[in-house]
Order: sequence, then C-alpha cells, then structure tokens
Amino acid sequence: MSDISSFPNSRLRRTRVTGWSRAMVRENMLSPADLIWPLFVTEGEGVEEPIATLPGVSRWSVDQIVLRAAEAIELGIPCIALFPNTQADRRTEDGAEAFNPDNLMCRAIRAIKQAHGDKIGVLTDVALDPYTTHGQDGLIDEDGYVVNDDTVAVLVDQAINQANAGADIIAPSDMMDGRVGAIRKALEMNEHHNVQIMSYAAKYASAFYGPFRDAVGSRGLLKGNKKCYQMDPANTDEAMREVAMDIAEGADSVMVKPGLPYLDIVRRVRERFDIPVFAYQVSGEYAMIEAAAAVGAGDRDALVLETLMAFKRAGCSGILTYHAAVAARLLRA
Ligand code: PBG
Repeated sequence: MSDISSFPNSRLRRTRVTGWSRAMVRENMLSPADLIWPLFVTEGEGVEEPIATLPGVSRWSVDQIVLRAAEAIELGIPCIALFPNTQADRRTEDGAEAFNPDNLMCRAIRAIKQAHGDKIGVLTDVALDPYTTHGQDGLIDEDGYVVNDDTVAVLVDQAINQANAGADIIAPSDMMDGRVGAIRKALEMNEHHNVQIMSYAAKYASAFYGPFRDAVGSRGLLKGNKKCYQMDPANTDEAMREVAMDIAEGADSVMVKPGLPYLDIVRRVRERFDIPVFAYQVSGEYAMIEAAAAVGAGDRDALVLETLMAFKRAGCSGILTYHAAVAARLLRA
C-alpha cells in the first residue's frame, strides 16, 4: 500500500474524465445567438460570386441575400451585417452613392425587412470605402489626407439613409472623431429613436482586412493605408479612450476589431465598461483558418469552434464572423 503523502492533494483531471462532467463544469457557452453573420451584396438577380481570397464566402444579389437571411433565422443567428460591392461606375471621389436611397445597400435592407420583418436584425456598416474611387473611408483633401469633420457630416447622411431603409443597427467603422455623437443626434432628429449604434470603437489599422477589400472591390483602388485614422496595433490605453468616447456619445454597444489578435483589448473593455462588447473576427482571420485547414494543419470545424469560444472566454457578448452559418450548424449538430 502506498503512503497517503505520495498522492497529489487534488486531481484537476477528475472533472475532465467524462463528457457529462466536462459539461457540468463548463464556464462559457457558445450558441448561434452569439453570432453576427457578415454578408456581401452585389448587383443582379440570382447571382452568386465566390471570393477567391475568402474560400466559401460569396457576394450575393439582393434576392439571394433574402435567402441567406432566411437561413440565418432558421439557424438561430440573430443578426446579419451587410456590405455592398458597389458597381465601379457608381464610385466617385466623394462617395455620394452612400446616401442614394436606392443604392444596393438600401435595396438589400428593404428586401430583407419586407421578407422577414423583426425576425432578424440588420446591421449596416457606415464608412465610405465601398463607394469611393480611392478606397478610403472618408473624404480626402489634395494631399490624400482623410479629413475628419466634413467626413462626419457625410457619414451622418449615410447613416440616416440606411436607417430610413430599415437598418436596425448602425455600425460606424470609419474611425472619425465625433461620428457616434453626430449620428446619434441625427437619428433622434429623424425619429429613429430605437435604431441602435454599434460603434467600431477600437478598430486597428490591420493587415488582416485584405480579403474584405477584395469582397467590396476596394483593394485595387486603395492608395496608401488607413493609419491616420485606424488605431496603431501597438496601443491598448488608447482603445480605452476610444471606447469611453463612443459610450459618452451614445453607442449602445462597442466593437473590437480585428478579433483573435486583440483579445486582450476585449478583456480590458469587458472589465472596465458595462456595455455589450462585440469582436469582429475579420476576413484575414477567416482566410487563415481556411488556409490552415486546406493544407491539413488542423481540423476546420474544430478550429472554428475553438476560436469562437475564445471570444466568449475573453468576455464578448457576440462575434461577427464569416463562419457564422458554419458554426451555427456545428452547434446544432
Ligand atoms: C470598412 C470596413 C473594413 C472592414 C469592415 N468595415 C475594411 C477596412 O477598414 O479597410 C474589414 C472587415 C474584414 O476584414 O473582414 N471601413
């Protein structure tokens, strides 16, 4: 017989042995209700255009987007996010198509709302990059510098245009100063009292956005970078100031973007502020998982669920992910 002192005081493996026990002590849960599904809209009817750098993701025409929304409802995904691939001949230096009430985005919003009403939330991105000939998120001066205050005035028009079409959540992704407050005031003045704002509060100038720019057709157009308005990846304290400002200006929820490389930011926001925090697992992150799986470096489904759980563990209320439908199906199985 062994001496009692030769045994460990405790055995943390004990609760890990069986499935029922692991389920009993599990600290975080992931469900389809945690997911927001970003979708790309394009012109035409019955159109599906695969995106080479985002294998498994396509642009869909408005009629097809309505079907994707039905799929989301069926899967228990509460909200979809829309991004337009604006026709080349509708892109201008000033991005005026952004506040055309009949633009692709507005037609998609109206079609989804007509078909599905309040069964699903529609989140719309506010920024000029899918509408400009230079691919920047705002108006530029002679030197190509993105000017702040004039851009905010245009973003307000864009946001109101989307809300008029039926958008439920306005999501400014432009990183101009003062835009959340300006949009909130304009929404109130236009009787959109219950339209929410989810601000891209801590959005970094990231190398992970490449495939998204292919999807909205802005990659070839973009000269230079977005470092004079999106955040420096080296900074954390500054993200706290961004979030504090957006909350003070009336944001209903805040977002951290990209996702996985910035979970430290999610955790700090969660601990410091009492507001729902979302993370955007961006296009380059999606592409990384798909590429790893394609060369046999890991199991795609397991990688998807593990990364999404990591967001929940970090404190996210929800995650924008191109894997939303895939993940919801896995969670249901
Ligand atoms: C537009 C916008 C971008 C993304 C979301 N909204 C691109 C950018 O800032 O250049 C990126 C999303 C992704 O990579 O999945 N302002």
